[in-house]
Amino acid sequence: MQNTLKLNKIYKQDSLDFLNKLHKNNIHPDLIFTDPPYNLSGSNLNLKNNKTGGAFYKVNETWDIMKEDEYFDFTYQWIKKSFDIQKDGASIYICCSYHNIGEVTMAIKQVGYSIKNIITWAKTNPMPSITKRTYTHSSEFIVYAVKNKKWIFNYETLKDINPDKAKNGTNRQMRDVWTLPQCQGKERIKDPQTNRAIHPTQKLEELVKRAVLASSNENDLVLDIFMGSGTTAVVAKKNKRNFIGCDLEEKYIKVANERLVGL
Ligand SMILES: C[S@@+](CC[C@H](N)C(=O)[O-])C[C@H]1O[C@@H](n2cnc3c(N)ncnc32)[C@H](O)[C@@H]1O
Repeated sequence: MQNTLKLNKIYKQDSLDFLNKLHKNNIHPDLIFTDPPYNLSGSNLNLKNNKTGGAFYKVNETWDIMKEDEYFDFTYQWIKKSFDIQKDGASIYICCSYHNIGEVTMAIKQVGYSIKNIITWAKTNPMPSITKRTYTHSSEFIVYAVKNKKWIFNYETLKDINPDKAKNGTNRQMRDVWTLPQCQGKERIKDPQTNRAIHPTQKLEELVKRAVLASSNENDLVLDIFMGSGTTAVVAKKNKRNFIGCDLEEKYIKVANERLVGL
């Protein structure tokens, strides 16, 4: 890959190498929104004869399997490098679940960010409990943190886009519990041959949009170092922000680029 990075482009590269390259290129994202591997793949759960629910997709990817200490080290490294390239006042949002929220919050505090909220994404269409030996997992989290004191928070914009209105129709404050579906239906990118989702963890645009509108302004730069199918880039572009990012997998970058055409 060339040494000079361009904005509004997704690179095929490892996240840590990419963060180093951003540093060398003097690129300082105003906002990082990212959805890293949760380290939840690799269980022996056999879903072949699963009769519950509909077309659910179990995440089982090689990029998502690490030993516990290796996973903390990986999490710490990319969060530390993210902190180092962001200027004072910048924000970071990290998606996680009960699997990895401990590692994410520990690393985020250790490197020097200040946690402002842990947003709960309450899923309206969760995958049913396959084992029937746990409560149905119907939530994920987004850790929202800032670097130093003068962070952007577009409070009124959030009120305007909040679907939860008062009885008389007036705007309400955006709460830290977001009741939204998992990405399905028309928004979910599917392989036309198999009709299966192309990316196992494609996030809903609305989830990313709230963070982008709250914590950046037009023409700001939004970074995602685990870009996947490109949701962060799509939301940034639709909302007149610049974006940059990377992913290890060519096939996901191709999908992301296809989503960006014509926006
Ligand atoms: C949880 S998914 C992100 C999904 C994305 N938010 C979306 O809406 O499609 C994580 C992504 O990180 C990528 N990935 C995993 N390890 C990586 C690494 N070390 N460097 C760069 N990308 C990586 C995977 O290929 C995967 O697409």
